[in-house]
Amino acid sequence: MLSGYHWLYVVAVAAVGFSAVARTAFYYLLRYFTDDVLGSETAVSRLPWVALGFIALALFQGGFTFLSGKWSAEAAEGATRRLRDYLYDHIQHLSFTYHDKTPTGELIQRATSDVDALRRFYADQAIGAGRIILLFLVNFAALLTLNVRLALISIILIPLVLLTSVFFFRKVSQLYEEFQEQEAKLSTTLQENLSGIRVVKAFARQAYEMDKFEGDNFERYTRGKRLLIMHAVYWPSTDILVFAQLILGYFVGATMAINGIITVGTFIAYMGMLNMIAWPLRQLGRLIVDMSTGIVSFGRVLAIIREDREPLDVGQHQPTGPVHGEIVFDRVGFHYDGETAVLHNISFRCQPGQVIALIGSTGAGKTTLVNLLPRFYDYNEGSVTLDGVELRDYPRRYLRQQIGIVQQEPFLFSRTIRENILYGVGRNVSDEEIEAAARAAAIHEVILTFPDGYSTLVGEKGVTLSGGQKQRITLARTLLKDPRILILDDATSSVDTETETAIREALEQLLPGRTTFIIAHRIQTVMNADLILVMDKGNIIQTGTHDELMAAAGTYQRIFNLQSQIENELEEDLATTAS
Ligand code: UTP
Ligand code: MG
Repeated sequence: MLSGYHWLYVVAVAAVGFSAVARTAFYYLLRYFTDDVLGSETAVSRLPWVALGFIALALFQGGFTFLSGKWSAEAAEGATRRLRDYLYDHIQHLSFTYHDKTPTGELIQRATSDVDALRRFYADQAIGAGRIILLFLVNFAALLTLNVRLALISIILIPLVLLTSVFFFRKVSQLYEEFQEQEAKLSTTLQENLSGIRVVKAFARQAYEMDKFEGDNFERYTRGKRLLIMHAVYWPSTDILVFAQLILGYFVGATMAINGIITVGTFIAYMGMLNMIAWPLRQLGRLIVDMSTGIVSFGRVLAIIREDREPLDVGQHQPTGPVHGEIVFDRVGFHYDGETAVLHNISFRCQPGQVIALIGSTGAGKTTLVNLLPRFYDYNEGSVTLDGVELRDYPRRYLRQQIGIVQQEPFLFSRTIRENILYGVGRNVSDEEIEAAARAAAIHEVILTFPDGYSTLVGEKGVTLSGGQKQRITLARTLLKDPRILILDDATSSVDTETETAIREALEQLLPGRTTFIIAHRIQTVMNADLILVMDKGNIIQTGTHDELMAAAGTYQRIFNLQSQIENELEEDLATTAS
């Protein structure tokens, strides 16, 4: 992340070095002033020059401090900007399995708060450490030229200061890690609560949610307090050490000055330099402690970066043209968690252009089965071939370009309706094509009733769509993509029967040549399919066309009878009410 910024860092540290040298020169000038100017006969005429010297040194020091701050900030902001971009890109490329098990709030926390801790590390702490080390080296070297014995006495307690810092560094790292974990938990709670706000309100569970949040928040407070107390203990404990060091140094220096071993000017300069060694070193301790937060955050960000991306373009088979759509499942088994199998022994075959319907109880594995096709997940047993080639050998990008899926839970972005429908296509599309897709999904007329038509914003800042409207827009989005294989996962479940019939008729116009998978609960939706798979508990329990399935006693026939019975009763009811 830092590549390209190394030099900016080097010059920033060099600028810090210059500013340290100016600071030390200041004490030399002070010594010269005390010893050679003050008492001399030409003092008055030399005074302006000395004053000018002090001003020049102050400007020099200030200028370089500014430059180092500017350059290190540029480097830090640049590097973290790059890191943020990279993380965003990386997170989008992680597998479904990773996203299934990672709470969104956790990812948000790491991509924001932790990245910011890293920015502070680059901007303040890394450069601050460089500054302190340089200050120490320059001043210590200067002290050595003043008096070797004094120089050595000035650093006698410094190791203790450093040891204390290391001790606190360990403590703070651990506390900070616990703190960040809790903060992530809080983000997750908040994020989930906001996404589920309708459920919370519908069940009037505000108090329960509040309790849960309060509990987590209290834990964060406790951990935050522990962390701050640890910081609070650090300062006085190192203060004592630094003061002891200063008093010791002053005492020895003063004794030497009284005995005439060093001049008064040297003593004054020595006091200044000693200060420039002791206090910054205490800062270094603080910095080391702060760095622990940067290091912890670094680890948390790295944990995401280390996750393997799901390769989009890798595959032994690199197809050139569009797929035909011949699909063969052969004894396919699949599990999400490595233990409980969700699909057992699934076998069926379909020819290009056929319509396959999946029907069965909820949780039977219908969504799971179709999710294998675009390789959202890879099957664990058996084989699936597409046009005779093992599905695993296809690059994921290709499959996802060729397969259009209308997912069971419709999701629209907070953008305009047009942008949402256009989402799946990378090419330029005319308004007519968009409208044709919307018409086929029976949503065109509805869109026209919105204030801005196709330019109406969806979501918080625009219209709130009904479940059926959302579903139909996602359908239009997939139809516009014009995929060779179309998967409709309960795509018309929130649509009334009449509209569904309209959609089905429009789809029948579009379907020729496309292999289509339809998942539905209504027999009506699936009865025209070339092949109907009846699923239960991860197994295919019946296969055949509508007529074949109706001829045999079994689940399909039972569902059909139940559904027609309900429909008949409904019709009778309506007839009696009408008469
Ligand atoms: P499915 O989601 O495939 O069922 O889950 P389905 O047939 O489509 O059901 P409906 O009609 O939409 O309701 C099949 C099984 O896989 C598990 C579920 O718990 C269910 O038992 N599952 C699903 C997971 O373990 N992890 C997932 O990410 C999704
Ligand atoms: Mg499903």
